[in-house]
Amino acid sequence: MDVTVIRSTFDLVRADADGFVRDFYEHLLATFPQVRPLFAGTEFDEQRKKLAMSLAAVVASADRPEALEPVLADLGRGHAALGVTPGMYGYVAYSMLATLARRLGDAWTHEAATSWEAALDFCAGRMLAAASAAA
Ligand code: HEM
Repeated sequence: MDVTVIRSTFDLVRADADGFVRDFYEHLLATFPQVRPLFAGTEFDEQRKKLAMSLAAVVASADRPEALEPVLADLGRGHAALGVTPGMYGYVAYSMLATLARRLGDAWTHEAATSWEAALDFCAGRMLAAASAAA
């Protein structure tokens, strides 16, 4: 995983973080309608801010992932309690990568794709490990 590539691509996304997160949710809910019930009560304005902030936190700590462990463990347990299943992590990663690709255009290189994939995989892995330890 190349942290420099993650940071430089994220800087491009950050210019319109709100638009990015809106596109991401649109993609997720359209491609995987089975997750819609989970978001039935979601205030999307709030959720957009939370997701943009957590993305920024992940990017900021990408070179010291151990700092993220407690946050990811809490998130993983919280997600399991909401009814999020392990298989759904693949949906989120797919929609996130597709949205990054669409918004970044030429800046979405093979290296950027593999780095983001590894970062999302790391987050999902830590969240799921905590969720299964708590079950
Ligand atoms: C890399 C994996 C993921 C990360 C980093 C992540 C991050 C977050 C964060 C930061 C929140 C806000 C938590 C709070 O309110 O304190 C959240 C809420 C939520 N996430 Fe995730 N998430 C991930 C995967 C998923 C998956 C796979 C699903 C299922 C489709 C999902 C569904 C939800 C739902 C339903 C909420 C609550 C929304 C609400 O407040 O109504 N997340 N997530």
